[in-house]
Amino acid sequence: MHHFRYTADSLHCENVELAAVAQLYGTPTYVYSATTIADHYARLKQSLDGLDVEICYATKANSNLAVLRLLSGLGAGFDFVSGGEIRRALAAGADIQKSVFAGVGKTEAEIKLALENGMYALHVESEPELARINHVAGKLGVKAPIAVRINPDVDAQTHAKVTTGRSDNKFGIPIKHAAAAYEACSKFKNIRIRGVQMHIGSQITETGPFVDAVQRIVPLAAELKAKYGIEYLSIGGGLGIVYREALASGSQAWWDAQPAAKRPLTPEAYGAALTPLLQPLGLKILVEPGRFLVGNAGALLARVEYLKRGLTKNFLILDAAMNDLVRPAMYESYHEIVPLQRDTTRRALVADIVGPVCESSDCFAKDRQLQELGEGEFVAILSAGAYGFSMASRYNARLLPAEVMVRGGAFELVNARESFERVIEGEKIPTFLV
Ligand code: LLP
Repeated sequence: MHHFRYTADSLHCENVELAAVAQLYGTPTYVYSATTIADHYARLKQSLDGLDVEICYATKANSNLAVLRLLSGLGAGFDFVSGGEIRRALAAGADIQKSVFAGVGKTEAEIKLALENGMYALHVESEPELARINHVAGKLGVKAPIAVRINPDVDAQTHAKVTTGRSDNKFGIPIKHAAAAYEACSKFKNIRIRGVQMHIGSQITETGPFVDAVQRIVPLAAELKAKYGIEYLSIGGGLGIVYREALASGSQAWWDAQPAAKRPLTPEAYGAALTPLLQPLGLKILVEPGRFLVGNAGALLARVEYLKRGLTKNFLILDAAMNDLVRPAMYESYHEIVPLQRDTTRRALVADIVGPVCESSDCFAKDRQLQELGEGEFVAILSAGAYGFSMASRYNARLLPAEVMVRGGAFELVNARESFERVIEGEKIPTFLV
């Protein structure tokens, strides 16, 4: 559920009319609903309340400082995958003592940054990395708290590019090598074994894969608790969200109308399936949701530049492009696209909704039906709060979009649209060309 809905045919985020945001700050602009993020955080926490749980928000989904500050204020820790993300959280004034640092390629500088800031644990992905962490910790005179990321080899039944828990993915250590990996950890002087971690993939819409993976890891976690006194098990992130009927899914009525067998994954179903499996372990449980917390809380506002009528197709050309939101081009993902001003008296239009970037893959939607729209009118691309701005690029020398946060009737620019001067600031013409 979320807080994007039409009021008098004008799309609102909470109590803010989105057309006003688009007029004031221009487009393309991301808009985030603070209340939606807070609601999702509270719902997930509530769904897991039978456990000693810590929610570590997967920063990669959206690392805007305002989003990080909001989640920190709600009590979240963070799951980081780079020094840049750690520095963003620090810049946002977030408390990172409950946070974890993952990723397959941690540099010495990143490990140092994590250890100096009292990170709860580093999630180790390989033996050479373990040796490096031990080395850096030794230089700092500390013991590095770690958990090994175990690859449980389950099929998350999601898009190939976002599945991570198969034995042929680059992530983690195979479960059958886990005992040897922990044995190796125990021999390093500057390493403190604190937990065990797994993550099987993203946008998972059924409980099955989670249950399967947890069932595989629980016996190992129990063994590690007995042998090394570990404190926690991290079950990763991956909770899927609704993309297809994104707008409708903002209301409870929509959820109530879904037949039980077809109801998308809810945090309540996730909690109910996993709590009985995890409770007997008596360990702290970490979850690392990214998309679930912020995905439906964000929309990308764009302006229609042209309606181009082709020989066999219509093209609705927006001022937003694949560089602003790459998910459709990269994962063939579906995002619902709706006008900011709804007019049910207009004729329907079937069109490919595209951006101005010079690639055929710069397409947000194929053969999509919506009301006829023309130059200067605005649309919202929904469910764009996760892996939207955080994956944006400057391809075609485009500027990174603006970001706005809404709460109740208030809205503020939380990231100004990039300026051309800032982009070329570090560039120079070499002396041999002058
Ligand atoms: N924990 C770990 C170790 C991860 O690798 C990830 C995501 C998460 C947590 C958070 O997963 P989530 O709860 O957001 O599903 N760019 C892709 C998604 C990539 C996910 C990578 N890892 C997309 O736009 O669909």
